[in-house]
Formats: sequence, structure tokens, C-alpha cells
Amino acid sequence: MEKLEVIGSNKLKGKIKISGSKNAALPILAATLLSDKKISLFNLPKVNDIETMILLLKSLGSKIKINKKINSVYIKNSKKINTLASYNLVKKMRAGILVLGPLLAKFGKAKVSLPGGCAIGTRPVDIHLKAFSKLGVKYKISQGYIHARAPKGLIGNSIKFKKLSVGATENLIIASSLAKGKTLLSNCAIEPEIIDLVNFLNKMGCKIKWVGKRSLKIFGTKSLKDLKYKVMPDRIEAGTYMIAAALTEGNLRIINADPKIMKKEIEILKKMGIKIKLKDREISIKGGKNIKKIKLKTSPYPGFPTDLQAQLMVLMCKADGKSEIKETIFENRFMHVSELNRMGAKIKILGNKAFVEGNIKFEGAELMATDLRASVSLILAALTSNKKSIINRVYHLDRGYENIEKKLTNVGAKIKRIL
Ligand code: UD1
Repeated sequence: MEKLEVIGSNKLKGKIKISGSKNAALPILAATLLSDKKISLFNLPKVNDIETMILLLKSLGSKIKINKKINSVYIKNSKKINTLASYNLVKKMRAGILVLGPLLAKFGKAKVSLPGGCAIGTRPVDIHLKAFSKLGVKYKISQGYIHARAPKGLIGNSIKFKKLSVGATENLIIASSLAKGKTLLSNCAIEPEIIDLVNFLNKMGCKIKWVGKRSLKIFGTKSLKDLKYKVMPDRIEAGTYMIAAALTEGNLRIINADPKIMKKEIEILKKMGIKIKLKDREISIKGGKNIKKIKLKTSPYPGFPTDLQAQLMVLMCKADGKSEIKETIFENRFMHVSELNRMGAKIKILGNKAFVEGNIKFEGAELMATDLRASVSLILAALTSNKKSIINRVYHLDRGYENIEKKLTNVGAKIKRIL
């Protein structure tokens, strides 16, 4: 099994180009099932989750041509699609559940495996399912599968999500786009990836309107059109490299990023004493010796993203005192802590809060990656230690970071993949 070897202590200098957003590309790819017109998607990240989604779509009968050179795909579906999304593919990635909405909308039935994904909590799909019932869907769960049918097709309704959920909001936006009549979705998640999905669907001919900060009005349509669409940049990848620059006292230009959708991350890093300059599609970041302690919590957008919690915690370990971070999205998202502590960190967990001692010098160690963002936090810690670290189970990392070794090596890091 592949491992990463990291020898730290180099200041990272130069520029890193940000890839397309994995979490925007996944629902957009799922939404292509709605259409049998020509669709070209650009700026897809070359990561395993995207490959898994493409395999899942192909297993349903989607006709997809991939152009790896320019990170794009061309899709032209026939009218016939298989409606069984098998365990083999959905187990690899929770976003597999996103094919449920488009299959129900287009074909009135679907059998979709209950999803897998990172082991960061129980991650149920009850919010998705309850909302689908409001659109006229009948379902039962048996043998690990959701068996869903909409005998009369989906019928528009008013749905208020009981809790903010990125995936449920996306699934319902996609499904309602072809439902009969009008749907009003309220208490929607408003992550930038959801805005990108809505932009994509509207360009494809759907009729979706924001009618309040967290409310959407969707008029079902059947007339979709050809389109070419470029996926937005990955804000979590950008945030990860910003933290890498801060940690190594480096100086990085993060290009192809969108600072407008990263206001909270930028505000927090500035509060920690990191120097940041912004241009339209570029973030320049300069790390120094004095990092200030901070207290914060993760929360849905526009709050601080849970997907950057593990990375920020590494920076907290270098601050001038005790920091605190409260994880409010997932109940089990501190699995990086025991590995960071093995590297010399002093982090204590109490319920959903982590108390992080500052002024830590990380020691290299042999480490085990446990989920996507936890894996990258171990790389960040290893980049600050002059001893060698070996990170096992890097397949987690490959789910969501394109060419991470190459991007980091290009700016001066010593990191390589070994067997
Ligand atoms: C998405 C992101 C993930 C990010 C998360 C929160 C993708 C592919 N993944 O995941 O990277 O960490 O948003 O920003 O975009 N919940 C329920 N019932 C449900 C659905 C969710 O209880 O039916 C709970 C979850 O367990 C979690 C919370 O709601 O505690 C938020 O989850 P959600 O926003 O749905 O996350 P995902 O869409 O799975």
C-alpha cells in the first residue's frame, strides 16, 4: 500500500494553482443524469472521488468521455438509464447518495445503496428521505438499499429542512428541478458549492431562484439544453495551502482561487497574525514566527468550514498559547488528534471541543491517515518537523487532493510517495 514520506522544515515559497472544487463537481456530475442533452464540464479535479462518481454514472448507463489533459468530461446520455446505484461504488463515497434525486426526478424510481464515505460520524440520510417523501416519493430501506418510487412522478411542494444539510439541499434542488409545479425549499444550506450547482442547473435550463437568504423557489421544467460549464475552484484545497504557508513561515501565492468565498477563513488566519493579500483570483500569504492563539467553532457557511478544522488545529499547535476549537457539524471529527499527539502535540478532547496547547515542535513519526482532511493535517504537521514522517493509508488523501505531492514539491517541500 502506498505511503507518503515527508521531511519538513523547508519554508514553502512560490505559487500553487488550485484545482476545481471536488464538492461542487460531485453534485454537478450527479445532476447531469437529469439531461439527455450535450454537457461539457471543465475544471474537474483529478481526484478519486470524481473518478468514483464517473464510474457510478457509467454504471447507470451514462455516456461519458473523459479528457484527462484538460480535466474535462463530455456527457451525452441516452434516454435509457439504469436506476440501480450499487453498494460497490456508493460505499466508497457518501456523495453517491446524490444520484437518488436525479434518478427519481427523471425516471420515477431508484434503488440506491446507503452511502459510506469518511468515518467522521454516523452521517444518516434521514433529511434527504423525509424531504423526498414531501415530493411524493415512497421508499423502504432493505438489505442496505433505499428502494424509492414516485409512481406519479415528483410533485412540487413546500419543504423546510429541519437542519442545514449540504447534501440534502443539493439532492432536493436537483430533484425539484424536474418536478411538476413549484417547490419552495427553506432552511437550505448555502455553501458556495450549492450556489455553483444552482448556476449550473439554471444554465442547463432549470428555473431556480433564490427568494431569501436560505430559501429557493424552483419551477419544474422538462426542457433542458446543451451547455458548457466550468466548475468553481476548491476553497478547502486553497485553505489547506494557506495554512501550509503559515505553518512553514513560507510565502505562497495561491492562484486560481476565489477569495470572495473564503472570507471567514481569511478573517481567522488574519486574526492569528498571518499576513494575507488578496487579488481577484489570487491569495498571497506570508507566515511569520508569531502565531496568535484563537478560539473558534466550525459552522455551516458562511461560518468556518469543518473541512478545514483538522488543518487549522495544526496551526493552533504553533500559536503563542492555548487555542480552542468546537466542532459543531460532525460528532467524530477529531480522529487526527491522537496522531498529532503522537507527533508531540498536546491536544485534549472534551466532547465536541478540542483544547490545543501552543508552542509545539512536531516530531516526525510513522502515522496512520484516518479520513480525507485528517490525512492532510498530518502532512501539514510533518512539513514543520525536520525528522522524517511516514504517512500510511494515503488513499484517503487521494480522494480529495489533486497532485498534492507535486504541488508541494514545486514550492520546496520534501515529500514523496513510497511503497
Ligand atoms: C458535505 C461535504 C463535506 C462537508 C459537509 C459539511 C460534499 C461531497 N461533502 O457533506 O465535505 O464536511 O458537507 O460542510 O459536499 N445529517 C443528518 N441527516 C441527513 C444529512 C445530514 O443528520 O440526512 C447531519 C450529518 O450527519 C452532519 C450534518 O447533518 O452532522 C451536516 O451534514 P451535511 O451537510 O449533509 O454533509 P454532507 O452533505 O454529507
